[in-house]
Amino acid sequence: MKILVVGSGGREHALVWKLAQSPKISKIYAAPGNGGIEGLAEIVDIKVDDIEGLAVFAQNKAIGLTIVGPELPLVRGIVNIFTKKNLRIFGPTKKASQLEGSKVFAKKICRKYDIPTSNFEIFDNPKEAKDYIGKTDKPQVVKADGLAAGKGVIVTKDKEEAREAVELIMVDKKFGRAGERIVIEERLYGEEVSILVFSDGENILPLASSQDHKQIYDGDKGPNTGGMGAYSPAPVISNNVFDEIIDKIIKPTIYGMQKEGHPYKGVLYAGLMLTDEGPKLLEFNVRFGDPESQAIFPRLKGDLVEAIEAAIDGRLDEVKLEWDERPCVCVVMASGGYPGSYEKGKEIFGLGKTKHLRDIVIFHAGTGKEDNRILTNGGRVLGVTGLGNDIREAIDRTYNAINLISFDNMYYRKDIGGKALKC
Ligand code: AMP
Ligand code: GLY
Repeated sequence: MKILVVGSGGREHALVWKLAQSPKISKIYAAPGNGGIEGLAEIVDIKVDDIEGLAVFAQNKAIGLTIVGPELPLVRGIVNIFTKKNLRIFGPTKKASQLEGSKVFAKKICRKYDIPTSNFEIFDNPKEAKDYIGKTDKPQVVKADGLAAGKGVIVTKDKEEAREAVELIMVDKKFGRAGERIVIEERLYGEEVSILVFSDGENILPLASSQDHKQIYDGDKGPNTGGMGAYSPAPVISNNVFDEIIDKIIKPTIYGMQKEGHPYKGVLYAGLMLTDEGPKLLEFNVRFGDPESQAIFPRLKGDLVEAIEAAIDGRLDEVKLEWDERPCVCVVMASGGYPGSYEKGKEIFGLGKTKHLRDIVIFHAGTGKEDNRILTNGGRVLGVTGLGNDIREAIDRTYNAINLISFDNMYYRKDIGGKALKC
């Protein structure tokens, strides 16, 4: 079977890397791909939001299965469009993708189906939002309703910051129409973890747990990023906590979406805070996590295609996933300046030296190829990923590999995995 992977990040490289191990796959295409995917897949120059272009390509090449990495095409309805053209695709429909595409929609599902999340109110008027902030007695988080390239959430420490966030989103329209409505919710405290599950609309099949590191600086300081590193499993999730997350958050969501007439098929990512009152939902994503995927897929034994096809066909109850017991750590190497502005086009040295390293994979994100040189081409550049017999070994292996790689003005966190050591 020929397969098309849509996207260009580290997550898509990890997907392609795992899919390439499947005996069911004869050829992989990646649109638009990146400098590291090139060795495993044929790169196709079609952007992720050119849904018609992707559909024409899939028809012309007789693609047997399309897997979508980023949320944008899902929220814009790529699954509906492909399905109408009889093209097989993995992911939620446009309506089901509202779990990520609209924070208001997701919060309303939580309220209706009794899914633990922080207390919230919804506003479409900045004055009312600011008046409400005046009456709150705890720090709040202000969220643009729509997609804002991962930047539409402002975590505040006091009322002044919260009012500024409302001003930025609703008055200055920093995120355009995505900020016409907002959610204001109570700030939660605790450890942040991610649980991803496959769903066929009714049954679920959880993936291994993982933990991301959102902030740019060591010790979880500084502004939020797309994710600076991840590890799997997340030891802070005991079996009991895991069961609680599945029973109180994941299952009611899948049930709720079914009841609403929008059964959820695809991978559902629940971003959670482990609070003193138990796990609470922070956000849903309707796709694989990045960089969580880079830490999860190297631990997955068996065939990813089998699970994906079972989710599409509504027979997930027939599939089991086996995991490598060994922990996996992914450290993101970024361009200096990220998540603010940064330069591109820096040559990356030392990748060849990592090729012979045991249990190390280098997933490319923002890279491009020019005359056989690999150049930086984005904020998050590489996801250096290592497995070890324990988390200490996985961390050490990963940072040893990083020491072999260099590019101008590179930046990475030095403490990825540290929290897992403390568990
Ligand atoms: P979201 O896109 O809703 O997950 O928000 C992005 C990030 O903001 C999350 O990964 C958290 O780090 C943080 N965040 C979101 N909601 C809250 C909350 N209620 N309390 C504390 N942090 C939050
Ligand atoms: N790692 C966060 C995300 O994938 O949204």
